[in-house]
Amino acid sequence: MQRLERDNPGRTAGFPGNRQGPALLAPGRQAIAAAAAALHDGRLVGLPTETVYGLAGAATDPLAVARIFAAKGRPAFNPLIVHVADRAAAGRLAHLPAPAQSLAAAFWPGPLTLVLPRRPDSGLAELVSAGLDTVALRMPAHPVARALLAACGLPLAAPSANPSGRLSPTRAGDVAVAFDAAQVALILDGGPCAIGLESSIVGFAGDGPVLLRQGGIAEERLAEVCGPLGRPVDPKVQAPGMLASHYAPAARLRLDAAAAAPGEALLAFGPQPPPCDGPLRNLSPQGDLVEAAANLFRMLRELDGLAGRIAVMPVPAHGLGAAINDRLARAAAPR
Ligand code: TXA
Ligand code: MG
Repeated sequence: MQRLERDNPGRTAGFPGNRQGPALLAPGRQAIAAAAAALHDGRLVGLPTETVYGLAGAATDPLAVARIFAAKGRPAFNPLIVHVADRAAAGRLAHLPAPAQSLAAAFWPGPLTLVLPRRPDSGLAELVSAGLDTVALRMPAHPVARALLAACGLPLAAPSANPSGRLSPTRAGDVAVAFDAAQVALILDGGPCAIGLESSIVGFAGDGPVLLRQGGIAEERLAEVCGPLGRPVDPKVQAPGMLASHYAPAARLRLDAAAAAPGEALLAFGPQPPPCDGPLRNLSPQGDLVEAAANLFRMLRELDGLAGRIAVMPVPAHGLGAAINDRLARAAAPR
């Protein structure tokens, strides 16, 4: 990055003390290429969209997705929106029922997110959907977002680029003061966001459209294209990913296990897990919580297919461990 900052004089945000903010780069060809390279390296990029700035990482890379959750300090794994370059890319990741195709034709590129069934061969990290069978897709209209999607050739997971519980950022400087250079490789400065409000989110129950989040497109305009929109069954559920039932594997989970009992699979954490006769997965042999988050949903799914009971070793509760323990507790809840 040193060389790039000399070639393309970026400003770095002024942090008090020694903290170094990520570089803010004018989004020329070189900066876009640097951002694409960072994304292919599993690093994060501050990305302007027409709604709000996003904190983008490769949606195919579970570690990059885990780094997004770590940087935002989210207490739980809400599923993230995946940004795509065009409708063909959307079709490779998910199935679009007829009303979704009409909505995409009418409003993409633009501030509309569609929650769709994932294709089994999507190549997306499980963590991006937080273990759900659906994925939220959006084709942004901002020219810088479009240029980066074209340059990197990756679907990009990008929640709003604010620390958890804070306001969504609408200027590059908002992003720069919220993260440091270790968390975010660089920020593309695309100027203030034209809409300044997140995208509208539409899901589908059966084939009928359901408005999951009010946003940049008025409901009346959506309804002109897809007919009246239903409401989620439980309107209090802002993030459907929080529903305990979404995290329920068929297998029973036994938390805080020191070892697996006969007939149990073992979901381990850290070096030297206890010996296990049954199926074994280790969330992170290094004891690294970002790696563990990246592996969590995939390993739970794999063990769920292999055993009726899963013993889960304790995972520390700091950093991403809080969200990991939240998800494990939901998966273990009696039902
Ligand atoms: O305008 C926007 O949508 C911005 C820009 C950056 O594109 N992004 C954004 O992302 O607002 P985020 O992560 O802050 O909001 C994502 C929302 C959450 O409410 C989440 O619950 C919902 O999308 N969501 C994502 N995947 C979902 C899924 N599979 N099912 C239901 N809801 C989902
Ligand atoms: Mg947000």
